[in-house]
Amino acid sequence: MLDAASVLGDRVSAAIEAAFGLSGVDPVLRPSQFADTQANAALALAKKVGKNPREVATAILANLDLSDVGTVEVSGPGFLNITVSPEWISGQLATLVGDDRLGVPTQPARTIPIDYSAPNVAKEMHVGHLRTTIVGDSLARTLEALGHHVVRQNHIGDWGTPFGMLIEHFLEVGPDSAEADLLATDPNAYYQAARAKFDSDADGGAWATRARDRVVKLQAKDPESLEIWRGMIDHSKEYFHRIYSGLDVTLTDADLAGESFYDPMLQQVCDDLIAQGLAVESDGALCVFPEGFTGRDEKPLPLIIRKSDGGFGYATTDLAAIRYRVQDLGADQILYVVGASQNLHFRMIFATAKAAGWLTRPDGVEADPIHVQIGSVLGDDGKILRTRSGAPLRLAWLIDEAVEKAGSVVEASRADLSADERATIASQVGVGAVKYADLSVAHDTDYVFDFDRMLALTGNTGPYLQYATARIRSIFRKAELDPAKASDAVVLTEPTERVLGLALLRYGATVAEVGDQQAPHRLAAYLFELAQAFTSFYDACPVLTAVDEPTRRSRLTLTAATLSVLDHGLGLLGIRAPERM
Ligand code: ARG
Repeated sequence: MLDAASVLGDRVSAAIEAAFGLSGVDPVLRPSQFADTQANAALALAKKVGKNPREVATAILANLDLSDVGTVEVSGPGFLNITVSPEWISGQLATLVGDDRLGVPTQPARTIPIDYSAPNVAKEMHVGHLRTTIVGDSLARTLEALGHHVVRQNHIGDWGTPFGMLIEHFLEVGPDSAEADLLATDPNAYYQAARAKFDSDADGGAWATRARDRVVKLQAKDPESLEIWRGMIDHSKEYFHRIYSGLDVTLTDADLAGESFYDPMLQQVCDDLIAQGLAVESDGALCVFPEGFTGRDEKPLPLIIRKSDGGFGYATTDLAAIRYRVQDLGADQILYVVGASQNLHFRMIFATAKAAGWLTRPDGVEADPIHVQIGSVLGDDGKILRTRSGAPLRLAWLIDEAVEKAGSVVEASRADLSADERATIASQVGVGAVKYADLSVAHDTDYVFDFDRMLALTGNTGPYLQYATARIRSIFRKAELDPAKASDAVVLTEPTERVLGLALLRYGATVAEVGDQQAPHRLAAYLFELAQAFTSFYDACPVLTAVDEPTRRSRLTLTAATLSVLDHGLGLLGIRAPERM
């Protein structure tokens, strides 16, 4: 659909108001087979105004002046088919070319905490964390570009029961042991060693008991336990940031707001819920039974906020976090970019927070929490991606592997470049391929992880889009021109020019839609379409040679605008575009 949409939509709405006295009616703009776009409002309005849709469309048309934009006619049962003129497209393109924002609107600023990545301390990040990190980061970049105040919240798992066994194991092996070194070098192995002791009933169960007591000590701020705990956090922070910088993700230490951050608030959360009559004792535990949640047996489902041993849990922390995000951060909307398997948890958290009045900001505004559900990354066998031996796949390995594979392709195809330059390209392409594979599918669908497919230079892949930008840069290098300075008038004569021009004009509305609907895959789909429109244009229309002025300059401007939009769009996906490929 053409997204001169806002212009056309406003005009159609105004015509509806003039014809029927109804204001703010949705013009229902849809893609059309026979025109650039069609307005279908007449079909929806017919009943309301007591006329048949064709009569309604004719009445709208009588009040619609689009002479400066193009032509409009009634077709079929009551569609208004709108065809825009080449002059109008050229005018809009001139605006786009002169606009640093490339048509991306500045929306009324909202405060949007985004909870994403959220790996666990003393554990390796696995491929499940890959998607929440990549999707969350792209949403953060996109919403910022739209003018919102994004607050990145990396809700790391740095508190709770596992730390009892992790610290107890540390005390036992000693700080200078090879086992303790594993915390830095192979956190999974460290975790597993502690876990094995915990599970094996070592000392006839005394070990597990000590680990449980250790949690209580840690939560009571016992200095020795706290110190060991801090050391673990430091190792993990370093490790997370290695991954983030490898992945080109915008998260920094300043964005860490882990579970431990909320610990001082947990007692209050429970007390307040009790005082409101929302939390009650059940089998020794303190529970909330949010309305509308029942199990298979039709019994109300509990959200446990204090276990029978007095410990708080994951849910208590999330209640404290949502309250903090609304009351202290002033959220209008909160995005939880977390695995789909946690959906019930979040729905119960949201319902409880709402019942407690915690979603209402001090200024009376109601915050809107959204679980952006993340689907699974699967192996060829259709099961969660694992190593051959069945262990969860380490994220660090996966990134290295992608970069290495991209490296061997670049080595073969660009032997003319320096080793340094090839390494940069390999890293941008390898990481770009992994990210794009993640972002080009709807965030809530599962997808099969396939190195060969994601690294392919053809098809809907990151490298294809990166290659499209590199190719345009090389056109400008050849012409010895700066694409940033190509801003001449665009004259549209060929059909492929028209298609490309219209695609460029859709960019801003696409970005807005991605932000409004938390749907980076729509941006990916748009960029793919744009790159294809460019390819068709470039195949059909000479740009550098065998073309006269002013057509040559017009086409160079179209080409440069394509580069700007591709580059900007890839940037919102968190993907870098190499200078050459
Ligand atoms: N650390 C959790 C995990 O690895 C994810 C936390 C998501 N965020 C939240 N507010 N619960 O599964």
